[in-house]
Amino acid sequence: MATMVGTQSNFEDALYELCELDYDAAEAYEAAINRVDKTEYKEKLKEFKEDHQRHIEEIRSFLRKRDAKIPEGPSAKSILTQGKVVVANLFGDDSILKAMSSNEEDTNTAYERVNNHPEKSTEAEDFLRQGLEDEKKHKEWLDSMTQEHKQEEENDDEECNEHEEHKNEPHSWKEGEVRDESIERSPWKEDEGYNRNEGEEPKNQIGDEDPRRRDPTKWVV
Ligand SMILES: [Fe+2]
Repeated sequence: MATMVGTQSNFEDALYELCELDYDAAEAYEAAINRVDKTEYKEKLKEFKEDHQRHIEEIRSFLRKRDAKIPEGPSAKSILTQGKVVVANLFGDDSILKAMSSNEEDTNTAYERVNNHPEKSTEAEDFLRQGLEDEKKHKEWLDSMTQEHKQEEENDDEECNEHEEHKNEPHSWKEGEVRDESIERSPWKEDEGYNRNEGEEPKNQIGDEDPRRRDPTKWVV
């Protein structure tokens, strides 16, 4: 669901909602930090959470100077569709990063709107421009990580397909390879002295009993 944050005609109202969105985002990052496994991801997500916390302080400070209403936390109803509750129940780093990327679509849209707001104050110019840069950076990193995961999955699939294609081919021993006598043992192929009955098909299955033990009379001495 696309966010409505930043569409408010009054600039201070738009900033109030933007601040609530930043609160939501910071909480979703906290949930994500607790859920991801990879340390590298944890570190990056912590950095992004701190950006959102800084945005909150900057917006609150601006609204305070103007004696405007200041949010004390996230709105009662989560603005983000992939908020902290959703993220806290996700499994796997990839799913979590994708959910956070989806959230960053909303934060990017909201920051673009307030940056282009017709009533934008010049005093808000710097921190809102920096805020938009931060949001772009967050989304770019999250998307690059999910793209990497996708590439790794495709490479794994290719390897599996290759293995599937060659699995029925006879094994050829490579130089230096340790030969396992338990596989590919075929008494019919190797024992040239054995006389098969007319019309009898060779059995080349692994584990076939040695025919000499079965019927020694068939051996040519
Ligand atoms: Fe962000």
